[in-house]
Amino acid sequence: MTAEPLEIYLEEGDLERGLRDDVRAGLSAGSKWLPPKWFYDARGSELFEEITRLPEYYPTRAERAVLAAHAPDIAALTGAKTLIELGSGSSEKTRLLLDAFTRRGGLGTFVPLDVSVSALRGSTAQIAADYPRLRVRGIVGDFTRQLDRLPTGGRRLVVFLGGTIGNLLPAERGDFLTAMRAALEVGDWLLLGTDLVKDPSVIVPAYDDAAGVTAEFNRNVLHVINRELGADFDPAAFAHVAVWDPEHEWIEMRLRATRPMSVRVLGLTVDFAAGEDLRTEVSAKFRPEGIAAELATAGFAAAEFWTDPDALFGVTLARAR
Ligand code: SAH
Ligand code: AVI
Repeated sequence: MTAEPLEIYLEEGDLERGLRDDVRAGLSAGSKWLPPKWFYDARGSELFEEITRLPEYYPTRAERAVLAAHAPDIAALTGAKTLIELGSGSSEKTRLLLDAFTRRGGLGTFVPLDVSVSALRGSTAQIAADYPRLRVRGIVGDFTRQLDRLPTGGRRLVVFLGGTIGNLLPAERGDFLTAMRAALEVGDWLLLGTDLVKDPSVIVPAYDDAAGVTAEFNRNVLHVINRELGADFDPAAFAHVAVWDPEHEWIEMRLRATRPMSVRVLGLTVDFAAGEDLRTEVSAKFRPEGIAAELATAGFAAAEFWTDPDALFGVTLARAR
């Protein structure tokens, strides 16, 4: 079967308006910041895929190991008819779930949702070709804003993989889980991938690799702002920095100005002092008890919690109650 045309919850205009609002708010703040969703234009999505293959970046391999071991359990326990994937990217690991559901039978529809049109185009075409009995409905959308529009029908399993929930700030995370629960019916399922707290000597290199791919990914947000908003950032003048924050148990990516700069964007002049940081991402790491508690607060009951053999990454299967 060929993939259906992408459903658009977010038009180009909405995206540009969102980028403008975020740039205005983040670059006028005392401590400058930008939300991580703007990394993912076509180049950013490609760079992320490259990151997943780096020797230092363990989360993708670890999560894949969990899914390889437990996909049949997930298919059997949930008996889902519709699989919805948030922040789906290439949906590469999700194929382990699709394979298990195909063997078991019963899954009718796969709905990947992502803000990146290029990632969705590639993944929906390939998945539709490789799983001809599956209806593939790709949605261009924002999982922090549009969960109330998720497709209904049959028992649903929503999967949110990669540890992307860790890219939300704690308050955003609470709002996300509450909105997620409100979008589901009692008995629907959520499969949530979370990177786990571990020694920073393992985490920091995963976000500061020797080949410099993560640095390029980080600087990509400046290329996006230059292209979309006509800004004049000099991306090469910003150094990539990854800092472990032991209090929040998250790693931050920052772009550090290597010299004083004045950047023109949206009619604003944004001054950077030499050494000044712009925070571009937090990536929170989790403890099993914290995940279960956050899910319970939002109205989910955790049914299973699995890790890879090295306990680097956790995958929770939870049910809306
Ligand atoms: N799930 C994949 C990809 C993770 S990368 C994996 O586990 O490898 C994060 C993905 O989330 C990217 O494809 C990015 O485009 C998407 N994304 C980031 N913020 C988003 C948002 N607010 N709404 C929808 N998708 C988002
Ligand atoms: C998508 N997300 C879970 C990745 C992470 O690990 O936080 C994004 C990323 N940032 C740097 N490397 C990868």
